[in-house]
This record gives sequence, C-alpha cells and structure tokens, in this order.
Amino acid sequence: MSVTIPTTPFNDQKPGTSGLRKKVPVFTQPHYAENFIQAIFDSIGDFKGKTLVIGGDGRYLNREVIQTTIKMAAANGFGKVMVGQGGILSTPAASNMIRKYQAFGGIILSASHNPGGPNEDFGIKYNTANGGPAPEKITDAIYERTKLIDRYRISEADDVSLDAIGTSKVDDMEVEVFDPVADYAELMEQLFDFDAIRSHIASGFRISFDAMSAVTGPYAKEILENRLGAPEGSVLNFEPLEDFGGHHPDPNLVHAKALYDAVMSDGGPDFGAASDGDGDRNMVVGHGVFITPSDSLAILAANAHLAPAYKGGLAGIARSMPTSQAADRVAEKLGIDCYETPTGWKFFGNLLDASKATLCGEESFGTGSNHVREKDGLWAVLLWLNILAVRGESALEIVRKHWAEYGRNYYSRHDYEGIETEAANGLMDALRGKLETLPGTTFRDLTVAEADDFAYHDPVDGSISRKQGIRILFENGSRVVFRLSGTGTSGATLRVYLEHYEPDPTRHEEETQETLADLIAYAEHVAEIAKRTGRTAPTVIT
Ligand code: G6P
Ligand code: ZN
Repeated sequence: MSVTIPTTPFNDQKPGTSGLRKKVPVFTQPHYAENFIQAIFDSIGDFKGKTLVIGGDGRYLNREVIQTTIKMAAANGFGKVMVGQGGILSTPAASNMIRKYQAFGGIILSASHNPGGPNEDFGIKYNTANGGPAPEKITDAIYERTKLIDRYRISEADDVSLDAIGTSKVDDMEVEVFDPVADYAELMEQLFDFDAIRSHIASGFRISFDAMSAVTGPYAKEILENRLGAPEGSVLNFEPLEDFGGHHPDPNLVHAKALYDAVMSDGGPDFGAASDGDGDRNMVVGHGVFITPSDSLAILAANAHLAPAYKGGLAGIARSMPTSQAADRVAEKLGIDCYETPTGWKFFGNLLDASKATLCGEESFGTGSNHVREKDGLWAVLLWLNILAVRGESALEIVRKHWAEYGRNYYSRHDYEGIETEAANGLMDALRGKLETLPGTTFRDLTVAEADDFAYHDPVDGSISRKQGIRILFENGSRVVFRLSGTGTSGATLRVYLEHYEPDPTRHEEETQETLADLIAYAEHVAEIAKRTGRTAPTVIT
C-alpha cells in the first residue's frame, strides 16, 4: 500500500557538481530526503515498470535513505530495484550495474570524499541510463521541481532486509539485493591482463592499497588480494565504516599521508594507491615518486595500449580545464583529439557516448575510461598495475621517461577552504572584471598571453556552459586558473591551479612549489587573495 504525503518545498535543494550534498542534520529534517527523491522521480520521464539501481558508500544515514528510496520507487511505479548488499555500491560499480542490466537509472547515496557521521556530510545523486551523472538539463529540472513540490508518494511496507542476497517484493515492485563486487570484478578481469599482474605480484612486486575505511575495501580485497594474489594485508582499512574512522576519505597528500609516507619510506612497497568514500577517486604513488593526477592521466594515456581493453588505441582523451596540459602532449603525439571540459565528470559523458574520447581525467584525483560513465579509482590502479607488469620497470622509471619524452608539467593546486561566500564571489567578480585588461601585462618573467572565463561548447549536443573558471595563460605556456569549488557544504572554497611547463630534462627533479613560486606570487597579485579573504596561505596544497 502506498500513500501520498503532503509536503512543502525546501529552498536549498539545488544539486551541485555532483548531486545534492548537505550535512546530515539537514537531510534528517522531516520530508527533506523524500522531497528531493520525489523531485528526481518527477523529472526523469516515464519509468513505469523499469529498473532502478540503488546503492551508496556506506556512510552514516546510508541504510535509512536506501529504505526510503526503495519505498518511494515502489510507490512511484518502478518495476524493480537492484540494491547493493548492505547498501554498499561504489559509484563506478553503480555505473556498471546501470549499464549492464539496462536500468532506467540509479540513485547513489554518497558525499564522495567528504567526511561522514551524524554531523558530517550526506548526498543523493541521480545517474541516467548511460550510467553517468545526470546532465545539467536534468539536474536543473530536478531543482525547479524541488521549488514547487507539494506531495510525495511512499509505500507503507516494512523495511527490506539489505543484508541477504536475494529477491523480495515491496508491494508490486521486485527488490533484488545483489553482491556489489561480483559484476565489477568481472568487468575488471575483462579489461586488464590479470595473468600478467598476478605473475608480477608473485615475483615480488609489492603493492599497498588504502581503502580509507570506505566503500572500496570489499572491492580491493576481492580483486587485489583474492584474484591477483597480493598478500593479505596489502589492502589497508578495508572495512567500510559509517564515519570512515573519523577521517576524510579523500585520497590526497593530506588525507592519505600515511600511505604516502609508507610508500616513500626506505624499503616501502613498490606501488601504493588509495581511493575515496565512494570509490571513484584515486591517488597513486610509486616508490620514490608521487604521481599527480594530471601526470597519471597523461602516462596512462601514453601506455594504455599495453592493457587488453585499449590495445586498439584511444579514440581521444578528455581532461577538465584545470587539469594540467600534460595529456594534451600525449594526444598530440598519438594524433588524437584532446578535449577540455569544465570540472565535473558529467561533462565527459557525451564525449564517451559519442566515442570521441576513451580516457578521461581530472586534477581532482579522478581518472576513468569508456568502460563506465563515472571516474573509477580501482580501474586506475589496475591500469597502472597492468602497465607496470608489462613494462617491468618501476613507476619512478616510467614517470621519468615520460617527462624526458614529453616535458614535465609542474603542477599544484592551492585550496582556500571555508572562506566567506561573499568574499569568494567578490574575488571572482573582480577578476572577471579585469580579464580584458590582462593580456600583454607582465609580472616578473611572466607575460600574460590570454585571459578568459572558461566557456565550454559541447561538441556533441551543442550546449554551452559558461563561467567555468578563470584562466590566465602566459606566453611561456604556464597557467593560473581560479575556480570556486562546487562540492563544498559550508562557506566557499577558492581553488587556485598552478602549472608550469618545463621541457628541459635537466630541470625535471626540482621542488614543485619552488618552480611555481612566480605563479603563486602572481595569483596573489592579480586576485588579492589575502586582502579579500583574510587568508595569507592556502589550507590545503596538493
Ligand atoms: C566531484 C566530481 C568531479 C569534480 C570534483 C570537483 O568529485 O565528481 O568530477 O572534479 O567534484 O570538485 P570541486 O570541489 O572542485 O567542485
Ligand atoms: Zn568520489
């Protein structure tokens, strides 16, 4: 039996870069999650009798909202829901399930790399039938709907057991609880040369994977330890916890520092990696070298043909605008296109669907390919392992050779977190206001060649996305990019992306921040960060 519950709109349900993200106490307000889920159902077309995939990263509130989603799906007329056992389903695995079982779409409950717990973050995101995040056209429609919503439908059935694999019913709708790892692991076996990786590991190659007490634990245990033979203990923090053990499940040099230190230490593992809350991000570290996400994309693209899935070559590469231009150089050499998109994985969807790009990557620790429509943390790790196994060289050797061949794009991102929204907007507006006057101006050895507010013209559907970040390009190929984060849940975060290109191999072992010193000073000079935000230093440098 289902009922229609009257409700009134909340005025803060605008989806951000990746769905609706709020603090848990916001989500637990009566009707809050229900309003948003109903707004999704009201905005995605006719799904009567169709299948919806549901899962999440296991964070606090995951199970409750999964039960609500199941009951609302039944009341709204879905024919079937497929739910990950225990409510667990990594974002890339969800994308795979939607595609493989031709679902109408999926609801992923996650706030990605943000902390979890009763006072931390939660999120709801809708993915469409291609397995990718809903495009802006749909998220805008959902937002418009949240402003008008006056009722939602929900079944009065009892909770479904999420822990036992099998099928049951909620009213007329079928509920299938499935093993969240099996289909994903099978896909990875199809893409990569597991035999080569297995024998590389058997011959003594040591890996360490930090699942950060988040969703990839069960996936990494099964794939790296059970199927590829890495010794027990190779996967750290493998049990998904509702509060991620009190940590930020964000694989970067700040939050995955323990892994980084272990891999860099004398006698440390040959290769280390970490993934985030919902399993779509990755950080990779070779013994002796941290590999920036931008370099990782470029190196993976240059070597992808060594893995079975990509042996026929790449159709193209795509990177988000703030991601370094290292991949562009690889694309040029391969004679393929390199697309520059706004930040946000959803912008890659059309390029992947149209077979214009095969590999995609973002500076925000995201890498992926056309195998799903999300970025994929473990996929990136496995592609690296495949390349390392086939080349038989260390990650450090591979990285050095790559720089020698293509030049090195020194790269860093400076984040100013939790600044006042007004100050942040003021800073961006002021920059926008002076863009036209910048070309030709000089600062130390830098001369501005071009300055603009990045606008993306989607080559597939012709849509235009404006105001996607301010780019200042210098004559020597260096760049400074300013952007406000679209994923925060309190205040604003200013991101400053710095890139310096160095073709000379004798200058490839320098300290990154030192090579960027002039650009850092320029960023302060042109944007008046200290004066406008009261901050004299970034909160996070990656
Ligand atoms: C999420 C998206 C990524 C995007 C990132 C940017 O992780 O999935 O595609 O790159 O957010 O976050 P920001 O905080 O910079 O908007
Ligand atoms: Zn994520």
